[in-house]
Amino acid sequence: MPEIQTVEPTRNGWRGAVEIPGDKSISHRSVMFAGVANTPVHIRNFLHAADCLSTVGVMRALGVNIEFRNENELIVTGRGFHGLTEPLTVLDAGNSGTTLRLMMGLLAPQPFLSVFAGDSSLTRRPMGRVRQPLSQMGARIFGRSGNNNLPLTIVPTEEKLHGIHYESPVASAQVKSAILLAGLYADAPTTVTEPYVSRDHTEQMLTGFGVHIERTGTSVTVFPVEDGGYCAPDMITVPGDISSAAYFLVAGSIIEGSRLLLRNIGVNPTRTGILDVLTEMGAQISVQNEHMSGGERVADLAVEAASLHGVSFGAEIMPRLIDEIPIIAVAALFAEGDTVITGAGELRVKETDRLHAIATEFQKLAPGSIEEREDGLIIHGKPEMQRAQVSSCGDHRMAMSLAVLGASANGVLIEEPDSVNISYPTFFSEIERLS
Ligand code: S3P
Repeated sequence: MPEIQTVEPTRNGWRGAVEIPGDKSISHRSVMFAGVANTPVHIRNFLHAADCLSTVGVMRALGVNIEFRNENELIVTGRGFHGLTEPLTVLDAGNSGTTLRLMMGLLAPQPFLSVFAGDSSLTRRPMGRVRQPLSQMGARIFGRSGNNNLPLTIVPTEEKLHGIHYESPVASAQVKSAILLAGLYADAPTTVTEPYVSRDHTEQMLTGFGVHIERTGTSVTVFPVEDGGYCAPDMITVPGDISSAAYFLVAGSIIEGSRLLLRNIGVNPTRTGILDVLTEMGAQISVQNEHMSGGERVADLAVEAASLHGVSFGAEIMPRLIDEIPIIAVAALFAEGDTVITGAGELRVKETDRLHAIATEFQKLAPGSIEEREDGLIIHGKPEMQRAQVSSCGDHRMAMSLAVLGASANGVLIEEPDSVNISYPTFFSEIERLS
């Protein structure tokens, strides 16, 4: 990939079918959960991208056998529920918050020491939000800056972890999942209550592994696994990632003359906030062939260009579209009127501070169009657009959003474009094909 990626303005609409890569969240979980099973699991449509490969690397370092049949298909032969082994080296979570936070939960109850490191972005991100509830369960986790940052060390405990009821101050699937995974090994049931329900892939997939899980309202309870109570499915087929589909849902809506079909996309209701917001903005999106596959809802999404108008949304829907704010901000720039986003403070602790990155980098293309607020953005639609050089800030979702913005306006030059390798390595070749 070049050091600076140029994206030219699109002359005609984007038309045709797009194969969207596998879901990142589900790919991570498939390898982790299969890794502690005692029968092999065949995983199809796995996301072959840097983040999920960080999880593969970590699970291999813990003794799990992972064999790729091709880039998107692998066989994971687990070590059994108590079979992970002490890693010989530091575990590298790379850029991946999901790898680190979920593995903290899985490793906190293990009878060996593990040490985690990651890249410069992950090293800045807060881990106290996971460490704190795990410590309440009895886990021993130590890290830099008051145990909040990488590098982190997990020390074995003498007793089993204790089941707790944790009221999480944030709606975060990573925090919830870490606690639930530790809860599998605890001495009593563990409950997590969130302010709003975050993505529930952990709950759905663990249920498929025979784990007893109960949900009421915004609370979920996991029961400790008893002997023989953890049984892997033979096969997991990962649906397409709605967070990656989002770039095409927006491009297809704002580039005149577009008509796109995105097949086999995961439409788990905890992830479909993007469909609700775009539809409210006036987008023409139809959900077709909806069906269930391995506990997850899957459908084809068809989109065609439409005129959009600004909307307001806030904290309540945020967990259902948390990763889509940058691309929704692109849609908002092409909408009539203002879009007001509140309750989005969590974006400040993603791969980069996304509220700040959107405000600074988008405005190089659309000056005077975005007001940055402490917990959100106000976006004034239909500004004058110009061509400019911008930075992805090393953040995959910023890179892809800036590319769609440039393609829909007067073109863009993107620094650090290779950040797309985190979740969508073929993104630039795909948009080149469509333009
Ligand atoms: C993820 C949860 C979200 C999301 C991330 C993936 C997951 O993070 O932003 O890209 O797989 O559980 P939070 O749950 O911390 O908001």
